[in-house]
Amino acid sequence: MVITTIFEPFRIKSVEPIRMTTRAQRAAALEHAGWNLFKIKADDILVDLLTDSGTGAMSAEQWAAMMRGDESYAGASSWFRFRDRVQELTGFQHVIPTHQGRAAERILFSCLQVRGKTVVSNTCFDTTRANIEAQGGRAIDIPTPLAKDTQASHPWKGDIDLAALERILGDASQQVACVVHTITNNSGGGQPASLRNLRAASAMCKKAGVPYYLDACRFAENAWFIKLREEGQHDRSVESIAREMFRLADGATFSAKKDGLANIGGFLASNDDALAAQEEQLLILTEGFPTYGGLAGRDLDAIAVGLREVVDEDYLRYRIVSTKYLGDGLRRHGVPIVEPPGGHAIYIDARAFLPHIPQEAFPGQAAACAFYLEGGVRGCEIGTLMFGGRDPLTGKSRVAAQELLRLAIPRRVYTQSHIDYVVEVGREVAARKRELTGFRIVEEPAQLRHFSARLLPL
Ligand code: F0G
Repeated sequence: MVITTIFEPFRIKSVEPIRMTTRAQRAAALEHAGWNLFKIKADDILVDLLTDSGTGAMSAEQWAAMMRGDESYAGASSWFRFRDRVQELTGFQHVIPTHQGRAAERILFSCLQVRGKTVVSNTCFDTTRANIEAQGGRAIDIPTPLAKDTQASHPWKGDIDLAALERILGDASQQVACVVHTITNNSGGGQPASLRNLRAASAMCKKAGVPYYLDACRFAENAWFIKLREEGQHDRSVESIAREMFRLADGATFSAKKDGLANIGGFLASNDDALAAQEEQLLILTEGFPTYGGLAGRDLDAIAVGLREVVDEDYLRYRIVSTKYLGDGLRRHGVPIVEPPGGHAIYIDARAFLPHIPQEAFPGQAAACAFYLEGGVRGCEIGTLMFGGRDPLTGKSRVAAQELLRLAIPRRVYTQSHIDYVVEVGREVAARKRELTGFRIVEEPAQLRHFSARLLPL
């Protein structure tokens, strides 16, 4: 007999209690929050799958490293430990620490002077797109066409469409400031890009003289998928694959809140001396001195250790298997998910799940509220509530390309029985899905409405 159970490769030394709630309490919390899950207190959540960002558990080694944190303003030893690990992993000489990923994006797009130019991506994450647009640039998403069909189980839905990339790079009128490859593709289902695609995109950019960047938030999960799925890569270490991925790029932005296994932090890195000098100036102006960049010394140390632990293959095997376990469980109960299961999250296809709720009535939010009411599980709508709203040019209201409910899994936080519980909640929601109704917005801000809008069930 072969033992096949893959268990959490850690023991738990410190615990946080979860306060149990009743359905009636959750109904009251929803009403009080205007059916907006961002407005619910974390204490009123049983299993929090809102995001995998900054929500992970640190290891004993990371906590020990925090005690070593050197809080000197300039030249702290924490900085050198952080910089050395980032340089070793990425091969980039210039490392600029930032308080999180979006700060790296803001500095990059500001110094690349994207005004009037185009930034091309498989899919820009929302902060990436917002930072490009805030600098007067234009973001174009060209994911592989295979990513369109949520139900097709293609292994590389995080690939960039190479034919489209070639066309855009060859079109002089486009003025491409840079290409940003998001790995894994968060807005597109947490799907990985193949090494083959990264190599080809990198070569095309090199030929065109356009910088090729990675949005590397989930680089280790992407590298693990390459090891598992890509021909010729099975015998390589994840560290070696990750090193190659970074060395194909001219630079990277990174949020350490994901595959940095830390609760805060990030970096911007490249080998471009002139650009990095400008970036450092902007860093000093808005984030902090270049040897801490808006972080405490102890944060830099936690990230330096996290960047080693995250390429541990026992960890990654457990991580990706546990995400798939949630996807398999939901699918078994007839809940349609974006296939195949992604690295950090399962995305429920709410349009397929709740076909009786029109897009204008937010089917993703209906599913999100149902998961909370049924079992205190908090996910995040990625659909018309997040991306819809009034078109600033035409004044007409828009619907999103997809209606998804993302259930993102914090790293090293929940056990298999938590996930079993979420699957059971999914089963109950599926059993009553015909009773679910849509929503209308009763109050919304001009921008980023999903964070603070108030809704009412129809
Ligand atoms: N890029 C990607 C692909 C992301 O997923 C995120 C954050 C960022 C950039 C920005 O990083 O939050 O550190 O400023 N994603 C979080 C999420 C918020 O829930 O997916 P940040």
